[in-house]
Amino acid sequence: MEKEGRQPEDLTDWFWRWSQRNSNNGLNELDIAQLLAANTFGASFNTTVVLMQCLCELATRPEYVNLIRQEVISTIKIHKNTWTKEAVESMKKLDSFIKESHRYNCFDLAGTPRVVKKDFQFKNGLRIPKGTVLFTPNAAMLFDEKYVKSPFEFNGFRFYELAEGSETPELFKYTSTNPHYLQFGDGKHAW
Ligand code: HEM
Repeated sequence: MEKEGRQPEDLTDWFWRWSQRNSNNGLNELDIAQLLAANTFGASFNTTVVLMQCLCELATRPEYVNLIRQEVISTIKIHKNTWTKEAVESMKKLDSFIKESHRYNCFDLAGTPRVVKKDFQFKNGLRIPKGTVLFTPNAAMLFDEKYVKSPFEFNGFRFYELAEGSETPELFKYTSTNPHYLQFGDGKHAW
């Protein structure tokens, strides 16, 4: 790759280049390995739980199996029988099913933990003293009629249907975040 003037594009290399750019970080190979291990742990845990939940939901709701299978088969055909990122991203019913399964089985009752670094006052007068630990009420919002219609009903194509009727369908994708959907957190890193 070096001969071709290209850089490897994987996480190990990103971490390494980042550590070289910011030499004040003083990171060595062991630190990079630990960062990778922490990231791998974070990446594996969530994806494994979500996948397991999807399989359980599919097993108890077999009416979805063929509908999703047909979408997968026809999408893969369009993409020359190759599982590309683009192909997977265009499986909208599958995406919706995964998102609904994760909403219905939300495992972060309280999420995005933060420690308040200095006294803070919201516009409505609510004061949060330095040192307070804050969480967002993830599950409560996912089952609130204000944000989700008939929240206690499992509708595997809920987000697919919402996206179909919207001018901004990308906002309903599984990985899209907003202040009422914090399964991946929200804010500048998520955007
Ligand atoms: C269904 C799968 C996943 C879920 C539900 C999930 C959920 C989350 C949540 C809730 C946070 C904390 C956000 C916050 O406190 O602001 C987070 C952070 C993070 N996740 Fe995931 N995650 C998933 C998959 C992954 C994967 C596959 C990777 C890496 C390959 C990953 C890497 C990270 C990293 C690096 C952070 C820290 C981001 C930051 O500090 O800005 N996650 N994730």
